[in-house]
Parts: sequence; structure tokens; C-alpha cells
Amino acid sequence: MMNSDDNGVRSVGLDIGTYSIKLAAFALRADKKTLIALNEKKISSRANLDEKTNVIREMFKETDLHPNEVNLSIFGPEAIVRFVNFPKMSRAQLEDALGYEAEKYIPFNMNEVIMDVAILDPIRETEQMRVILAAAKKNAVEELIKICKNLNLEIGVVDMDPFAMFNAFLEVNSVQTGPTFALLNFGHSRTDILVADGKEPVFIRQIPIGGKDISEAIARDVAIEFDAAEKCKSSKTEENSEKILKATFSVLDRLIKEIQLSFGYFENRQRKKIGEIYCSGGMIAQEGVLGYLNEKLNVEIKKWDPTEAAAKSADVFRNGTDTSVPQFAVCMGLALRQP
Ligand SMILES: Nc1ncnc2c1ncn2[C@@H]1O[C@H](COP(=O)(O)OP(=O)(O)OP(=O)(O)O)[C@@H](O)[C@H]1O
Ligand SMILES: [Mg+2]
Repeated sequence: MMNSDDNGVRSVGLDIGTYSIKLAAFALRADKKTLIALNEKKISSRANLDEKTNVIREMFKETDLHPNEVNLSIFGPEAIVRFVNFPKMSRAQLEDALGYEAEKYIPFNMNEVIMDVAILDPIRETEQMRVILAAAKKNAVEELIKICKNLNLEIGVVDMDPFAMFNAFLEVNSVQTGPTFALLNFGHSRTDILVADGKEPVFIRQIPIGGKDISEAIARDVAIEFDAAEKCKSSKTEENSEKILKATFSVLDRLIKEIQLSFGYFENRQRKKIGEIYCSGGMIAQEGVLGYLNEKLNVEIKKWDPTEAAAKSADVFRNGTDTSVPQFAVCMGLALRQP
């Protein structure tokens, strides 16, 4: 049970990324969901369990939250999602079949993973149904469990970043989309893609390229330390600006190729065209990035900031949250997840 008070039930989502930890809290009362707190804190590149625990404790203090329970997510190299077609069968039969067959789809040692399945709608005019297989390495889940134990917190839901982002989109987005659209999250270590048909996810891919790669390229080309390169990305100085842009664009070129491959694969296989593309994530806060992506991908990528459309309490940005960066999609989607 989550904390309860005058604001109704409170629900907290924590997104433990590789650049920063992000927190969102909603007050849930009847069918009204009000965003009551947001916070973000940077962590060091080799942050261990203790550092993450301390940062989260600090974030709760700053936001004056004392939750009993949080929703978390997992993604990255230790997690995978697959969409697979199976003959129509019950959940029990599917779980049984996966006991033998899961390793065909999941490229991890099956003794070291935690797996979950979801059955989607049956495929029209066939005897098949679509299934989502999601698997995460046990050690990654165990890290989350330890962090929560240190903080005396129960875990509500363990989700995956793209599903959490999509949940936020479904819950607090006010735009009208066509039938098939894509959500992109440009993070620090990764870029995640989710393609949806209406309310159903149909394709997920993670590309291991993000803001970290841009910082590394800048550090290399300008011959500065990584931390200095990180700072360059958000400063407006003219110094080395040409080299910085060139390094940035070289990384974006690689990323664009991967995005195009993913979109091409999806559109060919499913014979569907992706209409709108909405993006979030810290990486697009760097000046020039979104413009370059738009130009080279030859489609319009709209920046999507879930905090804009959400009902908010007046003091939600009290911790000096940088609102120019649309980085809260995942933690908001987590906080809005029903257990
Ligand atoms: N104001 C800004 N200007 C330029 N770059 C920024 C800005 N804010 C964040 N970034 C960049 O965005 C990236 C962080 O994005 P984000 O917060 O989405 O990552 P993350 O969720 O922690 O990482 P991941 O999900 O990949 O583990 C970093 O590379 C950071 O340098
Ligand atoms: Mg992230």
C-alpha cells in the first residue's frame, strides 16, 4: 500500500538511469492523477549501490516524500523484449511451452534470467496470437531489490523503460496520433525505440548509442576530459564549437543509421507505415541535436515532454528541475503504473 493522505494515494516512480536518477510522484484520487513531485540527480559514471541508495534518499528528502513503495524499471544490456507469434493457447499452456522454448528467443542463460510474458490480441484470420516476452538478468533485478531494501521500500512494479515511457504517453499525452507511431527515448547509454499500434506496443529495440557517446567523441576530438566534454554540451561558448558539432554529428550519423534500419525492418515486416515520431530523453536537450535528427531522418520528430500535459500541483518544479529537458517520461510512466 502506498502512502495515503489528503492528496489521495501517492504513487512514486524511480528511473535509475546511467546519467541520473529521476523521480516522479503522483497523487491519485478517484480518476484524477496529479503530478506532485519531480526530481533528478546526476550520478557518477561508476555509481555503485551505496551511491544510488544515498542519492535516492536525498531525493526523497528534497521532495518531502516518504513512500513505502516505489515502481522501478530495468533495461539496457541486461534486459530484452521480444515479440513472438504463438499458436493460440492459454497462459498456462504458454508458460509451459516457454519452459522448453524460451531460450530460442532470449539470448541469455535461462538460469540467470527472470522472465515475464504478456499475451496480446489474437492475430486476425489466423490461429496465432502475439506474445511479448520480456526477460531481465537476475543480477540486475537483485540490484534494485538491494537498493530498495537499504531504503526500507517495497517494490510495487518492476517495468521496462520503453513500456514505462509508452504508459506515460498513453496516460498524459494530449496529441492525436495516427494508427502507427513511434516513441524514441534518447538517453545517456542508449536510445530506445517503441513502435505502437494504437494502445498496443508492436516493436521495441534498444540501440546502444546515446549522450555518453557524444561526450566521448567530443572528449576525443577536442582533447579534453570526459567531464569537460559533458559540460560543453550544455554551455553556449563559441570555443571549439565547430569541433563539438562535428563530433556530435558523427555520433548522430551512426545513430540515425540504426534508427533507419529499425524503422525499415518494422515497416517491411509489418507492412505498416510509421506516422508520427515523438521523442524524449536527456540527449535531445543538446543544442542542434533534434534539428540534425529531423534533417537527416527526413521525417519530423516531435519533442514530447510528458510534464507539459500532466495535471500538476503548483510546487512540482520546486527543486529547480530543468524543464527544458524532456527526461521524465520513464519515471512518470512508472508512477502511473497500476500494480
Ligand atoms: N541541458 C542539457 N544539454 C545537453 N545535454 C544534456 C542536457 N541535459 C542532459 N543532457 C545529456 O543527456 C544525457 C542524459 O539523458 P537521460 O537523462 O535521458 O539519460 P539516462 O536516463 O540517465 O540514461 P540511460 O537511460 O541511457 O541509462 C547525457 O548524455 C547528458 O549529457
Ligand atoms: Mg533513461
